[in-house]
Parts: sequence; C-alpha cells; structure tokens
Amino acid sequence: MSKPIEKSIGIVGGGQLGKMLVESAQKWNVRFNILDAKGSPAARYAEAFIEGSLTDVDRIKELASVSDIITYEIEHIDAEALLQLSKEGKRIVPSPEILLTIQDKGKQKDFYKELGLPTTKYILLDVNDIDLRKEDIEKLSGNRLVVKSCTGGYDGKGVLIIERELISKKHLSAQFKGRILIEECVENGKELSVIVARDDAGHVVTYPVVEMVFDPSKNLVDYLFAPARVSKIIEEEARRISIEAVKHLDGVGLFAVELFLDDQENLFINEIAPRPHNSGHHTIEACNTSQYEQLVRILLEYPLGNTSLHSPVVMTNIIGPPELSGDYKLIGHEDLLKVPGASLHWYNKIETRPGRKMGHFTVLNSSLEKAIDQAHLIQDKLKIVPV
Ligand SMILES: Nc1ncnc2c1ncn2[C@@H]1O[C@H](COP(=O)(O)OP(=O)(O)OP(=O)(O)O)[C@@H](O)[C@H]1O
Ligand SMILES: [Mg+2]
Repeated sequence: MSKPIEKSIGIVGGGQLGKMLVESAQKWNVRFNILDAKGSPAARYAEAFIEGSLTDVDRIKELASVSDIITYEIEHIDAEALLQLSKEGKRIVPSPEILLTIQDKGKQKDFYKELGLPTTKYILLDVNDIDLRKEDIEKLSGNRLVVKSCTGGYDGKGVLIIERELISKKHLSAQFKGRILIEECVENGKELSVIVARDDAGHVVTYPVVEMVFDPSKNLVDYLFAPARVSKIIEEEARRISIEAVKHLDGVGLFAVELFLDDQENLFINEIAPRPHNSGHHTIEACNTSQYEQLVRILLEYPLGNTSLHSPVVMTNIIGPPELSGDYKLIGHEDLLKVPGASLHWYNKIETRPGRKMGHFTVLNSSLEKAIDQAHLIQDKLKIVPV
C-alpha cells in the first residue's frame, strides 16, 4: 500500500510563516526542505536545510533539485530563477508569473485598474520626475497622499503617508529611489483582509473577513480580529472582489488580499500577498483548516479544507521594542498561558530588533469584545527585555 503523502515541499524562506507551514503538516508527516539564512525560525524543522540568500539562483536550484514542489513565504526572492525552473517543468505554487506582478506595486495597481477592481486613485512615476508631475499629483484628492516604492517595500517600510505640500523631489529623494507610486489616502478607514485559497481545478474558498488595527507609529499591525465588524453586504463584497482578483491572476495557492473600507463604505484593494499572511495566523486556533494546512493541501493537490471560524478571535503580534537589538528574553508569557483560550506562538529568532516580529498570540472567546480586552491585558504584561 502506498503511503498517503510521499512528496517533498521546498520553501523559499524559513521565517515564521515557513515555520508554521511546516508545523501544520507534521501530522501528515510531509517532508520540507528550506532555503534561508542560518538560524532562521524554520531551519530546525527542515529535512534538508540549504543555507543561502533567497535571491541566489544556485541555491534556489539546489532547493528545487531535492523538492517535488516549490512554494515561498516571502515575495523578495528571485522570481526569474523560479520562472526558469517552472519552464523546466517544476511545480511552483503560486506561479512565478504571479510573483513577478506582485513584486512590483505599480504593476499590481495597473492590474486592478485594468480589471475594473476598486483600488485607490494613483500615479506612477520616477522619483526624479516628481516636480515635473505636479499637475498629475494635483488630480489626486485629499490633504494627505501615500508614497510607495514600487519594489522592495515590506512591513510598511517603503511606504510614507505625507501632507501633499511636502511632495517634492527635495523631500522624497533621500528615502525613495527609482519608480514610485503616489496614491490617494484612505482616511479614517478600516483595514480588512480576505484570505483566498484556490486549487489547480479552480475550486476556491475564502476565510471570514479579518479586521486589522494598525499601530501608526510602526506602520505594523497592532492586533487583528475576526469576524470583522462589517455588514453582511461588505463581508460578501470583500470576498467577491478578492476572489475576482485571484481568479484573474489565474492564482493557484493561498492569497491574502488586503483591502481598505472608507467611511462611505467603499472598498478598495490595497495589495495581495501570494503566501500565508500575518492576517491569517489566527486560523490555526480559530478555523477548521488553518491557512497553512490549506496551502499544504493545495501544494499536494488535495481537496480544500473547510474555512469556517469556530470562535471569535484576536491575534496580536509580539514586536521587538524600539530600544533593543540583539540578545533578549520574553517575560509575561506565564500570565498569557494561564488565560483560557489564549495561545502563544514563539518564532525562536536569535536576535530582537526594533519592530521585528518575534512571536504572536491569539485569544479565543465567545465574545469578541472580551477577547479584545483579554488581549490588551496580556499585551500589557508581555515584554521583550535585555538578558
Ligand atoms: N492608500 C492608503 N491609504 C491609507 N493608508 C494606507 C494606504 N496605503 C498604505 N497605507 C498604510 O500603510 C500600510 C502599509 O502599506 P502596504 O500594505 O501597501 O505596504 P507593505 O510595505 O507591503 O506592508 P506590509 O508588508 O505590512 O503589508 C497599510 O497597511 C496601511 O496602514
Ligand atoms: Mg500591506
């Protein structure tokens, strides 16, 4: 009798998303190979760990040579190398073509615009030409605008929300290089996320809409919760737009669609991440099938799992404090572990850095309000401190 799972999965990237991807499939005994720097969170779970840069073509090829299927947990990797491997017949999910579109925020915006999917009004330009494009900038509304690098941004770096008067070559050329995007700012809006899973046969499922609460000082998610506090109509529209975008990408895999909801109840797609996402961590404890298991199912060409939420849930990132770099310890986790319905995920990063995602926790409670209160109490006690 053949064993149920005999394929090996190679992951480009061994961060926390890779770690949780591996963890999700331990029950099935799936073998994983991982490419990343030494000491990465997922390294110790790998059957074959390949130490190297995510943009090193030879290391990516080495990973592919020992893996039946390749996926990735970060966008900043060599997509051309993956494209080449895909042409040679390697199964790469999501496809490298999708990654090439997504790696460039300008290409992404053009894609949504061409499809007629709602996205904030924008212009694309070279940072050196800002002063020549004053007229086009004038056509964007609002007191503040958002400036973004087309490539290389991550975790809010490469994104600047700025008063429109300050948009000039003089102000921006130190922070931005090359192609940029300037777009209208959604003020006082909500940030939502919809995780879409689509398999090779085109079957598609979505997870319940998640609402993210941002910490503006760090440009990082402070906490998020599900179900989102939106009307049924918005919930359905958010899911519809997200599925539409993934279908038109011809996407196979797992996609996190980030959206804004403005105070007039208009939805806009912000961007898509073609991989497991921070806004889906809670699915491990709160959904029948986690986002990670869902991706493994797709990679192995198994049926999609049920995405229902079985409890309201809050997820909070545990972030490296601003003043500390290097060795550290965590305090307060014993208090967290005493709370019924609370779970801790620790990423085992060797060093802390300001703003770095070090871990996260979730709180399940039949009352969403109570879960939010409990998460705040836990957050007040949890601290990353020097050793
Ligand atoms: N048009 C906008 N209006 C209002 N806020 C915005 C806008 N664009 C971006 N932001 C804010 O900046 C954050 C980061 O922007 P974006 O998601 O585009 O960049 P990113 O670097 O890819 O971030 P991440 O990796 O965290 O997803 C958003 O989550 C949101 O809080
Ligand atoms: Mg984003």
